Amino acid sequence: MAIQTENISIEKSTTTKINEVDFSKLDFGKVFTDHMFVCDYENGQWQAPKIMPYQAMTFEPSARVFHYGQAVFEGMKAYKDDHGKVFLFRPEQNFERINKSSERLAMPAFPENYFFEGLEALLKLDSDWIKPGLGNSLYIRPFVIATEPAISASPANTYRFMIICSPAQSYYNSPVRVLVAEQFSRSANGGVGAAKAAGNYAAQFYPTSLAQKEGFQQIIWTDADTHSFLEEAGTMNVFFRVNDKLITAPVSDRILDGITRKSIIQLAEDLGITCEVRQVKVDEIKQAAKDGSLKEVFGAGTAAVISEISAFQHKDELFEISGVGAEDSYAKLFKQTLLNIQYNVSDDAHGWRREVK
Ligand SMILES: Cc1ncc(COP(=O)(O)O)c(C=O)c1O
Repeated sequence: MAIQTENISIEKSTTTKINEVDFSKLDFGKVFTDHMFVCDYENGQWQAPKIMPYQAMTFEPSARVFHYGQAVFEGMKAYKDDHGKVFLFRPEQNFERINKSSERLAMPAFPENYFFEGLEALLKLDSDWIKPGLGNSLYIRPFVIATEPAISASPANTYRFMIICSPAQSYYNSPVRVLVAEQFSRSANGGVGAAKAAGNYAAQFYPTSLAQKEGFQQIIWTDADTHSFLEEAGTMNVFFRVNDKLITAPVSDRILDGITRKSIIQLAEDLGITCEVRQVKVDEIKQAAKDGSLKEVFGAGTAAVISEISAFQHKDELFEISGVGAEDSYAKLFKQTLLNIQYNVSDDAHGWRREVK
């Protein structure tokens, strides 16, 4: 049956896959909910948005996204509290960021009312897929692709904006070992590093696979010019704790402006923890590791919230980090503080939660 909201027509799925899903054994990003949001851009404007049953789509092989990678995306989550209320965390930041990414990829901006109406209608329809319990969530993937069938290397005239959702489980992410980049680069000055452009991720797969062969799960990227400043990891910004002070790199046109990162910087201020936002020299962190003042290194991003780093390698030197896993670690403190806000357990002094009503 089709239902019309203010702007969106909704075709409800007549069946549900939810009973086939084992929510205690979810592989991240492999199972999708019953519905998806779709909006096409044609004749210079976004057309009427639709919600429809999650399904495969067909595109011409010449669609430009397949040839030139004109594609951007976002990653956000919905959380359910113990009373069944559903919340988003700073979703306006994801909205602004996808349009910033689109602008960098010469793609049209998506309207704010369509984004939020679509997202909220989709979450209401698929609300049963959001399980309560700290750490359980629904991962939300908005994305835009160039659909115009034409293999000429220029921006497309037609696009598709979509939102798909995948249930994600609370999981304990064990500390990771990382390699500091010396040869490959993730981004360049004036490039697309600050955009969530699909190609940024594909370009990391090969160097990351080489690092994995050496026993590292991830790479910490450095500046492409000199490889002497630590920037960010594959899907996380990075924080260093030297004694009781935090340090993180400033965002730039090479580094993604992470929402978890900016929330941690604010929470550090609230908690009276000094957080320096400045360039982080590889040598400085190596020295701190040698003299014992480097207590923690952790990544921050929507998917894992906080991911502790237990060791890093630069050139031929391997450094184990002493404070990893400690009960009084900043990693644990920030993770718990963020989860409490996201799951409506604690006050929300900065108005970061947005209830989906
Ligand atoms: C390259 C990169 N850096 C950092 C982040 C963390 O950003 P956020 O905290 O907004 O998820 C992500 C994930 O979105 C990312 O892909």
